[in-house]
Order: sequence, then C-alpha cells, then structure tokens
Amino acid sequence: MSALSTDHLLGIKDITKEDIETIFSTADNFKDVLNRPIKKVPSLRDITIVNLFFENSTRTRISFELAEKRLSADVINFSSSSSSVNKGETLIDTVNNILAMKVDMVVMRHPAPGAAKFLSQHIDSQIINAGDGTHEHPTQALLDAFTIREKLGTVKGKKVAIVGDILHSRVALSNIFCLQKLGAEVMVCGPQTLIPRHIRSLGVEVSHNLDEALAWCDVANMLRIQLERQEISYFPSLTDYQLQYGLTIPRLNKLKKEITIMHPGPINRGVEISSDIADSEHALILDQVENGVATRMAVLFLLANKK
Ligand code: CP
Repeated sequence: MSALSTDHLLGIKDITKEDIETIFSTADNFKDVLNRPIKKVPSLRDITIVNLFFENSTRTRISFELAEKRLSADVINFSSSSSSVNKGETLIDTVNNILAMKVDMVVMRHPAPGAAKFLSQHIDSQIINAGDGTHEHPTQALLDAFTIREKLGTVKGKKVAIVGDILHSRVALSNIFCLQKLGAEVMVCGPQTLIPRHIRSLGVEVSHNLDEALAWCDVANMLRIQLERQEISYFPSLTDYQLQYGLTIPRLNKLKKEITIMHPGPINRGVEISSDIADSEHALILDQVENGVATRMAVLFLLANKK
C-alpha cells in the first residue's frame, strides 16, 4: 500500500490519480470487511475524530460516523445549530476549543467555499473536507467513481454526463476532477443559467439538451436543484425544469442502449428523477451510499497513517 501524497483531503483537485487508486484498493479491502459478520477493525484505535457540521447532512454525516466507528476511532459529533456558533463564536475559536480536547482529525462541512483549506492553514489536525459551499465534496466524488468502477469494471474511457444545477454543485466540480484524473470523458448538461460560463476550460463537453446528453453517455449522474443556494430564479418553474431536464421512463425508453443512473442525494423525486427510475435496478443510488462507508474508511485510514 503506497502513502497518499497529501496530509489532508481538501479537494480532488489537490490529489493525484495514484492517490485515488490507492484509496480505491484500500476501499476494496474495507468493503470486504463490511460484508463480514464482524464489521469492525482496530485500525484507528487511539485516534479521536470530530465531525464538524455547519450545514445540514444526512448521508455524509452518518457515513463518516459509521466509517470512523468501524475503524474503532473515538468520535465526537458537532452541529452548529446546537453550538456556541449561534452566540457569535468564530470558526477558528470553535475548532481551537475542540482541539484543546486533543482531537487528531477534523471532518468538516461548511457553507463557505475554502473553509476546509482555511482551517488546514490554522490548526495542526488533519482536515477532511465533507463539502465546502459550492466548491468541492471530495469523498462524494470518490464514492461515485468507486461505484462506476465496481459496476462497469473501469472508469477509464467511460462517458459520464452530470446533469442539473452545475453552478451551485460541489459534487459536480469534484466529480469532474476525479473522473478526468481516472481517464473518463465528462459532459455537463443543464439550463444555460445553471452552467458556469467558463466550465469548458476544465475540458468538459456542455449540452443544454438532456436527450442529447443521455444518447452520449454511459453514466448519467443526476443532481438536484439547490434552491437553498439560489437567490434568484434560474428557470421559469420546477414543472418547466422537470419537462426539460427530468429523467423519466419514456426518456430512457427512447434510448437504444442501457445507461447507468446515479444520484448523490438528496433526491427531489419527480423533479430531476422520477420515482420509478430512482427505485429501479438501473439506479445505483443506494450502492453509492453503501460504497461511501468503505471509501471514507479508506480515506480516514490512509490519512491517519501519514502521521
Ligand atoms: N450527498 C450528500 O452530500 O448528501 P448529504 O447532504 O445528505 O450529506
């Protein structure tokens, strides 16, 4: 097993293809562990990890906590909604107070792009970015690519369309970096208003036509519309969005091939994806969630071994 090139996981942009492959081979081993009757290993005994969540989360938060517990780490959970952040405490003061209690690693979700990097420059602990605003969500991209590799055998040479609200999506950016490093071709698809103007400079294809994107791709990763990050209207109505960009059975039936459907969650059923597709065997949504635990165990384990 080779060591990672980084002490923190701040974004996929900062890590190498070899790092990703090391994470995947380690995750393969942890996936075997998770399929055993006894799912716990002592790898991170004596390591204390705090999960700092300044934004809502279901999947990422539970997945990190489970991964940490499966590795036998001591785990502290922090939610900004029930903390002294509401009394005006700064991020650095909050974290320094937690670190004074001798914490080794910090997993942080924060609404500000760059928050994880900022923290890594001010404290000695190892930082894992669990989503920083509209910037990156590295472990989501890793588990997505791991799931494509598991389903299709390889990521190299595959065509992946990322569909929806690209403008506000940290999942889209991390997926673009991860998939390209692994040799996939990437297309982004959505209304012109929800595609960043300079996205082509990242080497991705752009389409505003879902049927065209579906005909092109092997994998469609459907993203939700992030209404909580939108202060203006980017399209006339959710009904209009669903008609143009919603993935439905009639749309899939028009294709002359099978494609793999992914979604990072949370799903808005009936908007970007219909319930019958989300619950069908074509969708890997719950495989993604399952693989999230093994992938995050691998990241935690490999980073802890850097110390
Ligand atoms: N995919 C994802 O990040 O989901 P949560 O916001 O529920 O963590």
